[in-house]
Amino acid sequence: MGLGEDLIRRRERVVCRGVGRLSTMTAASAAGAIITDVDGREFIDFASGIGVMTVGHCDEAVVRAIREQAGSLLHTSFHVATYEPYVALCEKLVELFPHGGNARAVLVNTGAEAVENAIKISRQATGRAGVICYTGAFHGRTLMAATLTSKVAYKLGCGPFMPEVYRLPYPARIAHEGLNEDEVVGRELARLRGALKDTVAPDGVAAIIIELVQGEGGFYVAPRAYVEGLREICDEHGIVLIFDEVQTGFCRTGAWGAVEHYGVTPDLSTWAKALGGGLPIAAVVGRGEVMDRVTPGTLGGTYGGNPVACAAGLAAIERMAALDLNARARHVGGVIRARFESMNAQSPWVTEVRGLGAMLAIELCEDGDPGRPAAGAVRDIITHCRDRGLLVISAGVQANVIRTLVPLVITDEQLGAGLDILEKAVLHHTGVTPRFAGHAGGA
Ligand SMILES: Cc1ncc(COP(=O)(O)O)c(C=O)c1O
Repeated sequence: MGLGEDLIRRRERVVCRGVGRLSTMTAASAAGAIITDVDGREFIDFASGIGVMTVGHCDEAVVRAIREQAGSLLHTSFHVATYEPYVALCEKLVELFPHGGNARAVLVNTGAEAVENAIKISRQATGRAGVICYTGAFHGRTLMAATLTSKVAYKLGCGPFMPEVYRLPYPARIAHEGLNEDEVVGRELARLRGALKDTVAPDGVAAIIIELVQGEGGFYVAPRAYVEGLREICDEHGIVLIFDEVQTGFCRTGAWGAVEHYGVTPDLSTWAKALGGGLPIAAVVGRGEVMDRVTPGTLGGTYGGNPVACAAGLAAIERMAALDLNARARHVGGVIRARFESMNAQSPWVTEVRGLGAMLAIELCEDGDPGRPAAGAVRDIITHCRDRGLLVISAGVQANVIRTLVPLVITDEQLGAGLDILEKAVLHHTGVTPRFAGHAGGA
């Protein structure tokens, strides 16, 4: 038995099965865009630990910052003693995400916690309870976050869920519906205005929370005009607008936040994943007038904004700026999109290419029939890729989307080799003979 199999067996013996397992892959070490498993096999990483390792695995500057901070102050709890790395990270966050000026931040540990806190802040600031969210949304697995999350597979048997949560269709253009973007925006803004008449009164709504690009939901991109309309409606009714940037944040879309593509300022935003360079840290950043309405003592926790995680976050942000990972994301995104468009042209099963910057995905439907999402083919493609040295993960409520969240420090050579493996796998599992020749990776 290989060391990997042994490790998986040990996992199965003691780890609760509720912790989802996307593959039988193991990991012993990693550097840049390469993960080495416990048997010494190397994999090109197209997953980044679900969008976290944007600056690459074990970036030297991040590791150095962690070591130095761990040697001087590990923990006091920010409630008990104020330490500099927490304040410095908040200063950096409000500089990057000014929220119209006078912004403030609070640090927590995970994306779900950031979402929980954004809702608590909205409720305190407005004195209202309601929250509007979207189909396909993923906001995490704690109870409020799971309530806001759409895909039932993530929350089976976990209810009852939180009251006063209302869900609307995500305003994405669905290719086979045949509507153009303006028509979708018009229909969905009218639906929201209608919901404020027939479903929940606006003076009962604390917040609307939206992912500008849905992550787990399958990389649908919200149209700019819809987000502008959302801002107007929130302003009209005093509703707090929250952008959940947990997956889109920190260079993934070719900007510090997807917000930069929209020219719309939210009242609150949530951040996590890439922020910590690999350590767990998350944040809510918000407009001063909203954040200042929160009662002291109602936010925080023992570990939120741990000094080592803050030091990692500060170092990761510095690396992103020094390496200009926003520009790199645009380049990487261009390379991936071109290859995805080629798969779309070659295989009728590849029904759509979606995303923003380096956050790109393909959707697969059997024989191109939108009524038959190809979750089985996606599973086979992912296994095929793993067997040939590429780690890639799926997304989508129907699990029929393959998404790329590559470490943005990936070299052009690694990116090309990974895409070769993926393209061959997609074409093989959708019954198409590859048109190209000479790509590495095996069939
Ligand atoms: C948009 C979004 N919000 C929230 C979360 C939850 O983050 P975490 O897993 O750190 O709790 C995720 C995780 O994938 C996410 O993509």
